[in-house]
Amino acid sequence: MAGRFHIRTFGCQMNQHDAEKMANLLCHAGYREAPDAAAADVVLIHTCSVREKAEHKLYSELGALLEAKAAGRVVGVAGCVAQQEGDRLLRRFPRLDFVFGPQNIVHLPAMVAAARERERQLRVDYDDDTQARFELPERHPEYTSPTPGRAFVTVMEGCDLFCAYCVVPRTRGREVSRASGQIVEEVRALAGSGVVEVTLLGQTVNAYGRPRPGRVEGEIPFAELIRRVAEVPGIERVRFTSPHPIFVDEALVRSYAEVPELCPHLHLPVQSGSDRVLADMNRRHTRAEYLELVGRLRAVRPDLTLTTDLIVAFPTESAGDFEQTLELVREAGFADSFSFKYSERPGTPAQRRGMAPLDPGLAQERLERLQGLQREQTLAYARARIGERTLVLIEGASPRHPGQLRGRCPHNRVVNLRSARPLAAGELCPVTIESATPHSLLAVPVADRTAAGRGAPLPLV
Ligand code: 5AD
Ligand code: SF4
Repeated sequence: MAGRFHIRTFGCQMNQHDAEKMANLLCHAGYREAPDAAAADVVLIHTCSVREKAEHKLYSELGALLEAKAAGRVVGVAGCVAQQEGDRLLRRFPRLDFVFGPQNIVHLPAMVAAARERERQLRVDYDDDTQARFELPERHPEYTSPTPGRAFVTVMEGCDLFCAYCVVPRTRGREVSRASGQIVEEVRALAGSGVVEVTLLGQTVNAYGRPRPGRVEGEIPFAELIRRVAEVPGIERVRFTSPHPIFVDEALVRSYAEVPELCPHLHLPVQSGSDRVLADMNRRHTRAEYLELVGRLRAVRPDLTLTTDLIVAFPTESAGDFEQTLELVREAGFADSFSFKYSERPGTPAQRRGMAPLDPGLAQERLERLQGLQREQTLAYARARIGERTLVLIEGASPRHPGQLRGRCPHNRVVNLRSARPLAAGELCPVTIESATPHSLLAVPVADRTAAGRGAPLPLV
């Protein structure tokens, strides 16, 4: 055995999945997973730079880790901060062995080998807009999935939109779509190993297949990709994240009516309810266009659960603009949302334009008002589901409620359940929802599965 590794991951689902790719690559290189950093020969800190807070967390953790670094151990920093900070990180932390960004994951085993042999700092330093970054090996027999029954599948990477607040085009590079044949093959292999739910991943996932440099000629549109993935035998649920409103086309809307495996949940970031702020953010759509889209989606899938991302206190946001965001939250009927205070990021269009952040106290106040409204709305949504029959994909024991299992319904809500019979992670279990909190639904299994549709909500019993 070459040694043991440990990966500490922060950030979005793309990052969570990139960590899985790294773990699998290291398994192929002869490494095995260690339970914690102290027991590992190779430690990777996998970073996120979307907001300043996440970056600060990295510096404190990395400092402590390097302080205690044993002889022979190598420590690397991966992810978006590594891409953004590069050499500055190596200079700031002389005991750090290597850094590499999200576009260079395939090179991880070579970097680890080089870092262990040579005693100097290393950095992979190039942008990769080719298909090479998608050339990753199948799951190694020693690789254990952290999500039994479910899997993420990368379909595209990077972003070409340049929202004013966002650091992603600088860290994950330009938009590249992966060959559809390779995606379907990966899904087939996953289904063969017991996966029933796949989440298609991309920074602007529904930009998939757009003509771009690095694109494979003659590729299919996103809605067609969903169809092909859903057709793979054994796949019962298909999700995707995160889409951009401007790429939700008619074919994608129709998929919600025509593809039963496509789950009735859509996370569709809107960021603001004010047209002026949306324009300053360079979001390329208006409030009315967003609401019109929501209307079309609900017309074909009335039970669609809609969630979103929101930013408060963007530099040009007035009190009136913020009120419009609250109003949009009500009007769109978001079942849940992630909301953030604007955080100035280096090299973003807003920072380069010298847009000064608003007063932190004001930003906090707005965030709390928004989150208060969302809490009420989420609770009302959850309560309306009491009595519903649905199908839960079991994830394992509930971390918060001893004796209960935790899983997710097709609408992507967390469902806790008490079950008399043991249920394995990855199993689909029909349940009736009995009670609700803003964070989760509480359910009991029902005896027969005969009426259970493939991810579709069931009639009340
Ligand atoms: N400040 C605050 N929130 C941000 N997000 C992205 N960049 C910033 C920033 N600079 C939020 C957006 C995005 C989510 C992943 O993070 O809402 O959709
Ligand atoms: Fe964080 Fe964005 Fe990078 Fe994901 S893509 S890890 S959210 S900076």
